Amino acid sequence: MSIQILFSFLFLLVASSSYASVQDFCVADLSQSDTPSGFPCKDVKKVSVSDFVYSGLAAAGNTSNLIKAAVTPAFTAQFPGVNGLGISTARLDLAVGGVIPMHTHPGGSELLVVIEGTICAGFISSANTVYFKTLKKGDIMLFPQGLLHFQINSGKGAALAIVSFSSPVPGLQITDFALFANDLPTEIVAATTFLDPATIKKLKGVLGGTN
Ligand SMILES: *[C@@H]1O[C@H](CO)[C@@H](O)[C@H](O)[C@H]1NC(C)=O
Repeated sequence: MSIQILFSFLFLLVASSSYASVQDFCVADLSQSDTPSGFPCKDVKKVSVSDFVYSGLAAAGNTSNLIKAAVTPAFTAQFPGVNGLGISTARLDLAVGGVIPMHTHPGGSELLVVIEGTICAGFISSANTVYFKTLKKGDIMLFPQGLLHFQINSGKGAALAIVSFSSPVPGLQITDFALFANDLPTEIVAATTFLDPATIKKLKGVLGGTN
């Protein structure tokens, strides 16, 4: 009888640990559609170490653009291993004078680590209190989920930071692009922002907006 109990116990142990192993990860099957709880899992038999390693952050992003900066993401789309794990990362390159304009990540909080250079970074709380500071190499700063924030290269050389997010799909919405890079009519932008229409037209021209 006790042998039977022992066997039942061992069976339960083996059954539960093999159940646990299929729950360890859920590498995104990018051939399927995203869902509110993430992508469906890739067949475990097809998962390899390359699903958990990403080399796309090794190279600097191209900063020859209006903002003189580049965000190179390692979100689910680029790094399917993060699917379902509540985590992701990205590389920020800021040339001299570069800026990541005021933006939010609706899906996750952000932790920034300065690897090189000097970055003035800050966020604005829901109470409209501003928290900003000039960060040096080795400093880290938090940006709580959903809040407007920015990063400016305030040094004399290029700056590099690695950011991590508490979501595999933190999302990115840049306020200036939301306001001036689409076809929302100038009079509506003016009515809702109190900006003068000439300024709005000018910004739409620079950022590719119309109307
Ligand atoms: C960087 O982007 C600019 C503007 O799009 C382009 O002209 C240039 O060739 C790019 N440089 C590299 C190294 O890809």
